[in-house]
Parts: sequence; structure tokens; C-alpha cells
Amino acid sequence: MNKFSRTPVAAPFAAVAPERSVDEITGSRRLRRMRKADWSRRLVQESRLSVDDLIWPLFLIEGKNRAEPVEAMPGVARYTVDLAVKQAERAAKLGIPAIATFPNIEQARRDETGSHSLDADNLINRATRAIKQAVPEIGIITDVALDPFTSHGHDGILRDGEIVNDETVAQIAAAAVEQAAAGADIIAPSDMMDGRVGAIRDALDRNGFQNVAIMSYATKFASAFYGPYREAIGTGGLLKGDKKTYYIDPANSDEAVREAEQDLSEGADMLIVKPGLPYLDIVRRLKDAFGVPTFAYQVSGEYSMIKAAAANGWIDGERAMMESLLAFKRAGCDGILTYFAPEVAERL
Ligand code: PBG
Repeated sequence: MNKFSRTPVAAPFAAVAPERSVDEITGSRRLRRMRKADWSRRLVQESRLSVDDLIWPLFLIEGKNRAEPVEAMPGVARYTVDLAVKQAERAAKLGIPAIATFPNIEQARRDETGSHSLDADNLINRATRAIKQAVPEIGIITDVALDPFTSHGHDGILRDGEIVNDETVAQIAAAAVEQAAAGADIIAPSDMMDGRVGAIRDALDRNGFQNVAIMSYATKFASAFYGPYREAIGTGGLLKGDKKTYYIDPANSDEAVREAEQDLSEGADMLIVKPGLPYLDIVRRLKDAFGVPTFAYQVSGEYSMIKAAAANGWIDGERAMMESLLAFKRAGCDGILTYFAPEVAERL
């Protein structure tokens, strides 16, 4: 007999009380035992978030000494190259391993085919050179999609209402070579054209960039959560229609696995799942199926939802931020692209 052997039941419920004691029900297993104190919770914690898990997406604009707030993303700004260098220095000091750059290209430089993506001196390439020179210790990940450069905001070349695959792939591969030449460490194709990873690998290798890695946005879904990003890079008002003919249907999971398998066979070194939190099941499937470095992109809409609810006092923003990032680790992520990166790094 011990104090747990009989289930104490308040008088009014005695008539409907369970016949068995809780110990009989659980076989004396009590999972709450290890939750009882902070020290024991720390001892059994399965997933941990560290600064080493963070990749910080940074928005770029033309000009000098200017930081322009992104209205739909409280706390996020677009930086001119000189200030982006300062932000990269800040990230390096905080121990953030890598940044990912996204340019807001001047409207006058955008056209039907996104030809400015091929310019060795475009905004993204100038930023890479400047950051590499000033902060050589931080990894630079560059996105090679055409959407910042096209007048219609699509990720590919638009011809007679169609995003043409093969021509887009050829251009993306050439743009990737310019990005590598500027000093990018990792090329991240986010356009979802078929065959892009293999084409980029070939082009990089032929031009002497064997050591430049490919982090493929292998499973990129046609999502509503990209909204604020499109404001950030100035494509929101331009985009006609949607991206359903090239991004994956949010309903599909087997197809996402096939995409990832295809990209790995073409030479991807790492995979990205995008968006993040609504697609943790995909993260887990990919990690289990391939065991390769797998990342999630906590996209703009996910960031803004947390910020907006916190600003209204509806949730504790800091706790929601930490919990969301830990969830990525639990799902199997090796790292997370997140706009929270500097804020989290400061906390950790
Ligand atoms: C497109 C691209 C997108 C994002 C980054 N690159 C999606 C899109 O606009 O369709 C979204 C990132 C975010 O929402 O934070 N190549």
C-alpha cells in the first residue's frame, strides 16, 4: 500500500469512479516523473536549438547607407550593400553560420526574361563580393530564381502565357555561375524548374566551381505564406496569376519525396522544405528517406503571423518564436532559414 494505490475520488463522483487505480491503468509508468523539475526536463530534452542551426535571409536594395523597413515584416528591413555588410558582420559576431541574400531589383531593370540576373555586377553579386571581402568567415547562400528580375514576378521566362522550363534552366545555370564567381558558397535554386539542379552542377563544374555547393529548394509548395516576401522584393504587385504550374501542390507529399530524390540524383548537396511549419511532415519524410542535410525555410508569412499576433498581445512572441524553431529541430531539420535568426542568436 502506498499513497498512490487508491485513486482518490471526490465524494460527488464516487458512484461513477473508475474501478482501477491510475497505477493499475499505467502499469506504474508515469511520464510526468521526468517533467517534475527544470533539471530533469533539461536532462531528457531530445531536441535543441543552437546558433549553429540558423541561416539568416537578408533583403538587398540599391543605394547607400539606407535601411528600408518591410512593412509586412515588422523588424525586417532591406539594406543597401554597405549596410548589408554591417549586418553580415553582426551575424558573424553572433555566431550565425550563414546568410541568404534576396535582392529587390529596381523596376527599370526587370524584363520579360529576367536578363539582369546574368549581370556579373547586379545587386546580389555586388553584395556577395562586398560581404565576402569584409566578412570572409560567414557562408553566403544565393538564390538563383528569376523572380526578382522579371517584370511579371514569375520564377521563369514567360512565353505565350507559359513559364518555359528548359530556357529558364539554361539561364539559371548561367546566373549561378556568375553568383559563384562573385563568391557565393552555396547556390540555392528556388524556381522549381525540372532539371535545374543537374544543369547548375554541370555549369559550376565546367567553370571551376566544384567546391560551390547546391542547396536545393527541392520541395517548394505553391503557398499563401510567401505574401510578405513578395512585398519585400517588390514582386507582389507584378505577379499575374499564381505559381501552381511549377511549385508543388500543398496537398502532395509523395510528389515532394520524388522531387527531393530527383534533385539529389542530379547533385544537390542539401535539401530545403519551404514553407516550414505547415510542412514538418515533409521534413520528417525526407530526413527518414534520404538522411541528407535537410533545412526548412520559415517563410515570411510564418514570421509575420507570429510578429502580428505578438504585437496585438495575443501570444507571447518570444516563446512562440523559440517553440516554432525547436519544432523544426524535432521534425529532423539540420537548420532553419529564418528571419528571426539575429533575435534568436541574441537570446541563445
Ligand atoms: C521565389 C522565392 C519565394 C521566396 C523566396 N524566393 C517565393 C515566391 O515569391 O514565390 C519566399 C520567401 C519567404 O516568403 O520568406 N524564388
